[in-house]
Order: sequence, then C-alpha cells, then structure tokens
Amino acid sequence: MSKLNVCVIGTGSISDFHLGSYQKNKDAQIYGVFDVSEERAKAKAEQFGAKVVFSNLEDVFNDPELQAVSICTWNNTHAEFAIRALESGLHVLVEKPLAMTYEESLKIQEAAKKANKVFQVGFVRRFATNTNVLKRFVDAGKLGDIYYAKATCTRRVGNPGGWFADVEKSGGGPLIDLGVHIIDVCWYLMGKPRVKKVTGHTYKQLGNRSNIENLSFYKAADYDASKNTVEDLANALITFENGASLMVDVSFTLHTAKDEISVKLFGTKGGAELEPELKIVTEEFNTVLNVHPQINDLTFNFVESFQQEINGFVNACLENKESIAPVEDGVEIMKILEGIYLSAKEGREIVYEL
Ligand SMILES: NC(=O)c1ccc[n+]([C@@H]2O[C@H](COP(=O)([O-])OP(=O)(O)OC[C@H]3O[C@@H](n4cnc5c(N)ncnc54)[C@H](O)[C@@H]3O)[C@@H](O)[C@H]2O)c1
Repeated sequence: MSKLNVCVIGTGSISDFHLGSYQKNKDAQIYGVFDVSEERAKAKAEQFGAKVVFSNLEDVFNDPELQAVSICTWNNTHAEFAIRALESGLHVLVEKPLAMTYEESLKIQEAAKKANKVFQVGFVRRFATNTNVLKRFVDAGKLGDIYYAKATCTRRVGNPGGWFADVEKSGGGPLIDLGVHIIDVCWYLMGKPRVKKVTGHTYKQLGNRSNIENLSFYKAADYDASKNTVEDLANALITFENGASLMVDVSFTLHTAKDEISVKLFGTKGGAELEPELKIVTEEFNTVLNVHPQINDLTFNFVESFQQEINGFVNACLENKESIAPVEDGVEIMKILEGIYLSAKEGREIVYEL
C-alpha cells in the first residue's frame, strides 16, 4: 500500500502533535507544510522532514501528489480551508472547533457530502485510551442509560493570547476552545443525543491576567496579551431530546486554587469518571463498588491520543472508511456552542425544534 501524502496547513503550536504523529505513522508521508509565516513553516519542515514548503495556498490545493491535509490554523480559517480542500479532492482533518459558527459548519458539511472524502474533526479526546476503554463499558450497557453528565475544565491563568483572545479570529474563549472537547466527549459517550435546549452564561471579569508571574501555560505561536475580547468563564446546562442533561463549566482564568479537569457520567446501572482518572462506579450485592481499571494511562495522554487520532485519520483515508469523528458531529457540537453563546448574550434559554 502506498503512503498517504499529507500537508499540514498552519505550523504553530498544535502542529507539532500532528507532524510528530504523521512522522511516526508508517503509512503516512509528510509531503508538505504551509504557513503564512514561511520561516515557521521552513523550520517545521526541517524538524519533521517535510518534502515541500508551500509558499501559497493555491499551490497546496493544486498539487496532484497531495491526498490529505491537516488544518491547524486559526478558527476563522477552518471553514474556508476545509471547503477548498474538499473541493480539491483532498481528505481533511480539521482541528477543533470545526468552524466559528453553526452556519459555517453546515457549509462544510454540504461540501463534505459532495466531495465524498474522509472528513475528520479534531476531537482528540475520542481517540484517547481512557475514552475508548470507557466506551466499551458504555456500549455493553454497563452504565445503563446515561441521564446526567458533568464536565469542568477550569484554568487559573491560561488565556493562550494572540488570536485565541480575539473573538473575530477564534469565535470565542474557553467555551469554544476547551468546552468543545469536554462537551464533545460527554456527548459522544452519552450516545450522541440531539440537543433540545441550552442555557448558558459567559463572564468577562478578569481579563487575561498577563500580570501573573511564575506560572506557565499553553500559548499561541504569536503570543500577545495586548488584546482580549473573549469571555474568561462560561457555564451551561444542556438538555437533550432523551431528557439527559449535561452541566459544563470552563475558564481561561478564574480565582480557583488549581487547574481542574473533571468529566463524569451517571447512568441507571453505573457511573464513570473519565477525568481526572478513569474510574467506574457500580453496585453488586448491595455494595457500592469503585472499579479502578488497570491501564497505563488513566488520564488523557496528549502525545498518545494525538498519535491515535492521526492513525485513525490515516487508516480512514487509506481504507476509505468513515472517521469516528465525522463532520455531522462537528456540526451538532457547533450548534450547542453557538446556542450557549446566544443564551448568554440574550439572557434566555435557547430551545431547538427537533
Ligand atoms: N486538539 C487540541 O487539543 C488543540 C490544542 C490547541 C489548539 N488546537 C486548535 O488548533 C488550531 C491552531 O491552534 P495553535 O495553538 O496551533 O495556534 P498557533 O497560533 O500556535 O498556530 C496557528 C498557525 O496558523 C498560522 N496561520 C494563521 N492563519 C493562516 C493562514 N491564513 N494561512 C496559513 N497559516 C495561517 C499561523 O501563522 C500559526 O503559525 C486552532 O484551531 C486550535 O483551536 C487544538
């Protein structure tokens, strides 16, 4: 089988995990890289052994050797690049969030349907080992019907700055950046029920707190703290058509004692904690049991999960199979995220027609 020729578009911070994973995948070839910063693209090409450093996007989309792209650019470019790539006959892996808005995501979905190519959304947590172990228990009915989930991803000081902090380029703050992951992984494990209503709140109370010293955090490649037009905290209650509900809170900055990630699911036969450590809760012989799976990584392993995400994408492309993170799922998550922002802005519950 010949190798899949891939180009990574956008060679900033997260591209390292795409490039490093393609490099380790024996069925993939890092054919090219492209970034508006040619200097950055060249450095990454050298580091990861890309054959071509493209100098413009047209050349990427017109290259007959190319088969797939990873889109790792600012959120405001995802829709345009994804649609152009699909129209050029390429398989597409686009980083999360799928787009800036629900409307944009529908346009991508339409292009994906026409193109009949593999389309994968960068829902990396779906590829994590702890998620996959838990999913087997869920699919086997060990938790019964999951009727409630609760997820938190709160950073004390962690606004990545640059474009992340500019709503025109990112579409929002911690909700669209961090919330997208934890909402998606809960929704995926809950069996992907359609959203019925959402209530959300967003707060802009603390700014980016770039005054804080001696605490490191994830930063955009072009870190800059001079502009901040995104929320610093968001919370939401999401209700699904089957009556199940999901409560979420996320922050870029918050006066909390430590960074926290927690993902919990509660069902009629059992419960589970995916983060911070996989744990299954059940009942046998009138006794409550906390079950501790014996696996290497009970928590999300960044490097391994990206490797598994890229492996999944490469396999799907080479075998022409649907990804486990298809475009429709990205669209439903965009609907939820947009609903939360709208609810917060208008101070009302958003109810969807089903
Ligand atoms: N899956 C995850 O856990 C995860 C984590 C971080 C970021 N992300 C996503 O990855 C994407 C990139 O984030 P990042 O942290 O790498 O940001 P970054 O700012 O570090 O890198 C983005 C790169 O895109 C380039 N770029 C911007 N506009 C471009 C254009 N029009 N054409 C070509 N290149 C362009 C920039 O020059 C920069 O090098 C975002 O969508 C973000 O949400 C995902």
